[in-house]
Amino acid sequence: MTPSAHDVPQVVLGLETSCDETAAAVVRLSPDGAVEVMSSVIASQIAAHAPFGGVVPEIAARAHVECIDAIAARALADAGMGFEGLTGVAATAGPGLVGGVMVGLSFGKAIALARGLPLVAVNHLEGHAVSARLAAEVGYPFLLLLVSGGHCQLLDVGGIGACRRLGSTIDDAAGEAFDKIAKTLGLPYPGGPALEALAQTGDPGKFTLPRMLLGRKDCDFSFSGLKTAAARLAEGLTTDTERADLAATVQAAIATQLAERSDRAMAAYAAEHEGPKTAQDGLRFVVAGGVAANRAVRARLQAVAEARGFSFTAPPLAYCTDNAAMIALAGAERLALGISDPLDAAARPRWPLDAAAANANPTHVPGRKGAKA
Ligand code: KG4
Ligand code: ZN
Repeated sequence: MTPSAHDVPQVVLGLETSCDETAAAVVRLSPDGAVEVMSSVIASQIAAHAPFGGVVPEIAARAHVECIDAIAARALADAGMGFEGLTGVAATAGPGLVGGVMVGLSFGKAIALARGLPLVAVNHLEGHAVSARLAAEVGYPFLLLLVSGGHCQLLDVGGIGACRRLGSTIDDAAGEAFDKIAKTLGLPYPGGPALEALAQTGDPGKFTLPRMLLGRKDCDFSFSGLKTAAARLAEGLTTDTERADLAATVQAAIATQLAERSDRAMAAYAAEHEGPKTAQDGLRFVVAGGVAANRAVRARLQAVAEARGFSFTAPPLAYCTDNAAMIALAGAERLALGISDPLDAAARPRWPLDAAAANANPTHVPGRKGAKA
């Protein structure tokens, strides 16, 4: 009997080029589910975009073209292997800045074609969804808060290809709010980490910011009112102490909203997943995406999870922000299930994980800046 894809280890080269990081990684997924990150290389373009205060799509695409081959070669070298050691290639196929997505996807297709390897066209959001599994044993199903620069959503993750959206932002993503408010405080790009650093010495009780969507009972998010109010307050500030106080207030307000909606989602999730009632027998909460790097956000979410009897998992900081190890693992999990994609797989600027929920309740007007899905 020939072994099925389940029975052999998957060793996958992952490629990530959907925003401002060119990344490549090799991940090994054993038949027993053990995950080994054999290498993970990230070339950040922060310096190229910093003068513009945000990511410039054309600059991003060109920068990906210039270094994708060297980054992939380094990922293989760091893993101590050549192309012949791979069982597949996984590249982000969307959502994201499509010029950049096309660079990584085309590069992945070329390797797949030249080496006779299966290709997996990975949804970047599925990458974030599995990112906690890179460094911890987190079984399916779990409740996921995906919170990054382009996304803010709560998902019931039943497994690979089985995500159901419980809520999402109706305007900006949380990371976007961090970045834009940081800009009004005169902080450098990317604003999230800079705002967190400034907030450390601030008093979160010095200013009052509006609490968004208070009357609603769903799990949706909104950050635009907070952003406008914070920008107005920032204009009148004169001292560094005041700026630190506003940064602390903003961070606390974002953390509060994320914690409140997650709490509501946990209640709904626990009711639907009757059976497993406690962390021991399976209620799991995972936070992923760049904003999961924020310590105040993590602490608030962990407290809510514990109070609801959920286990709490956040990826190590290096796997919170964009990386290729999460893309390689999503690809490996798909290959282990016998799923791969044709070589004409399309690059997709928008690609909701839960297409049904996104169609029924579109929270994004095509062409507008904001949440990618
Ligand atoms: O996941 P990611 O690297 O890219 C997207 O897919 O969007 O997330 C980047 C976002 C940026 O908005 C960045 O400001 C935010 O994550 N971020 C943070 C922190 N580190 C990164 N936000 C708040 N606090 C942080 N420490
Ligand atoms: Zn991301």
